[in-house]
Amino acid sequence: MTDVAAVERIGDEISALEGEFNRQIQIRPELSRKLVSFQANKEIPGYRWFRYKEGFSAPLIERIIVDLEITKGRVLDPFAGSGVTLFVGCSKGLDATGIELLPVGCELIRVRKAVMQAADKAALAGAVTKFRKLAHWKDLAPKSVFPHVRITEGAFPPVSERKLCAYLEDVDEVDDPLVKSLLRFAAMCVLEEISFTRKDGQYLRWDYRSPRGNGGRPFDKGTIKPFDDAIDHKLAQIVDDLSNSADLFGNSALGSLNGNLDLFEGSCLSVLPKLHGLEFDAVITSPPYCNRYDYTRTYALELAFLGIANEPLKTLRQTMLTCTVENRPKTDLDSQISAELLQRVRHAVSQQSALNAILDYIDDRKSGGLLNNNGIPRMIRNYFLELSIVVAEIGESLKPGAPFVMINDNVRYEGVEVPVDLILSDIAKAFGYDVDAIWVLPVGKGNSSQQMGAHGREELRKCVYVWRKAKARSAKKSKRESALQKSG
Ligand SMILES: C[S@@+](CC[C@H](N)C(=O)[O-])C[C@H]1O[C@@H](n2cnc3c(N)ncnc32)[C@H](O)[C@@H]1O
Repeated sequence: MTDVAAVERIGDEISALEGEFNRQIQIRPELSRKLVSFQANKEIPGYRWFRYKEGFSAPLIERIIVDLEITKGRVLDPFAGSGVTLFVGCSKGLDATGIELLPVGCELIRVRKAVMQAADKAALAGAVTKFRKLAHWKDLAPKSVFPHVRITEGAFPPVSERKLCAYLEDVDEVDDPLVKSLLRFAAMCVLEEISFTRKDGQYLRWDYRSPRGNGGRPFDKGTIKPFDDAIDHKLAQIVDDLSNSADLFGNSALGSLNGNLDLFEGSCLSVLPKLHGLEFDAVITSPPYCNRYDYTRTYALELAFLGIANEPLKTLRQTMLTCTVENRPKTDLDSQISAELLQRVRHAVSQQSALNAILDYIDDRKSGGLLNNNGIPRMIRNYFLELSIVVAEIGESLKPGAPFVMINDNVRYEGVEVPVDLILSDIAKAFGYDVDAIWVLPVGKGNSSQQMGAHGREELRKCVYVWRKAKARSAKKSKRESALQKSG
């Protein structure tokens, strides 16, 4: 097939999907980028401690819970990140279950949960203030060194690195476990600010002043804060938030949890099959996007800080949901997921015709040596396979009629839009979900710099999908559909 014919075929397939979901695709002006992304968290006590750039905003989750009338029961986030769904859910009186693989996200959730459960927040704030005022670390000559991994070597100016180590040694002397973990956590929160690096989606960018330089175009990060200033500011912010913890809604962002919060640390691909006994009343989640962003590189400083060494870091990279060209196919899916479900998922994904048209085209470009990275088709294929497994697994535990809300971006490769929203919504239907709505942000996402040259500023949709587990009658229908599929 010629390129022109292949692109036309993709266009036809996407138009067919747009037709199928015409009623559900709704532009929602109130869903500004700020509301949907981490930006809106920047002023909220507790949430502003650590810049988890991929996190969504607490006000968005609050809004979804209110609009969809999720008033009781248990909410699940299988990609919990910094735990926004869990904490907002609990603040509204829901129980919350989160699954998160990246130790940085797990640490954010653990520490925040412990702080919220602290019986006496004033005493906690007092202990942090005392430590900050005494500042013993400033006079310590550290005996320890920072546990770098290969990709973080040289990330800090030497003076700051020594101060950081002295601070951590000082923290080690603190008796109270909660005060100690909060003080350690404060240091994790300033690593980016005191380093020569900036998180930049696919990797860490290195400032021109660092020993590594930046290879290509010199990058100027701007101010690199000395450790003492950065930690002083962070500790003051934490104390402030512990003392005045009202969030933007006047709720207490760091107040007590009004529901149970359970965190499973690991991959949702292996945890979800073990949760079939639980029943969920809602899912609100945002998976990694199919955009090559590598969390294990952008959060490398924090991972090293948490003691993740080189080899475990590589294993972690491969265990993450496939979304980078480095991800190899996961060979352990058969041992984690039931053969029956895996077969249904493979079948549903292989039948999705828009995805097939896109992959055929990109495979052809690969055969012609035209891709800038040959891992792209494998990444797209496995992204949809793995995410569909998650959707199907959750279908086993979600109550009939319960909402499944997903925030995700569409992407573009080789000049072709991959309408992740429509493809996933179509696959979700095969697993007993009704597609209630696909809310589209009024201004979509621009192209990556590589794509920009060829395609200008064509917008890619950023969406909030609202699916619902079909009620009993249509669930039967979907069982019939899947039986038909299996026989087909
Ligand atoms: C877009 S972020 C979610 C951010 C989250 N909504 C928040 O508010 O912080 C996607 C998350 O999925 C996590 N993740 C990636 N692969 C995973 C897997 N296999 N199992 C569980 N979590 C995974 C990443 O570490 C990341 O925290």
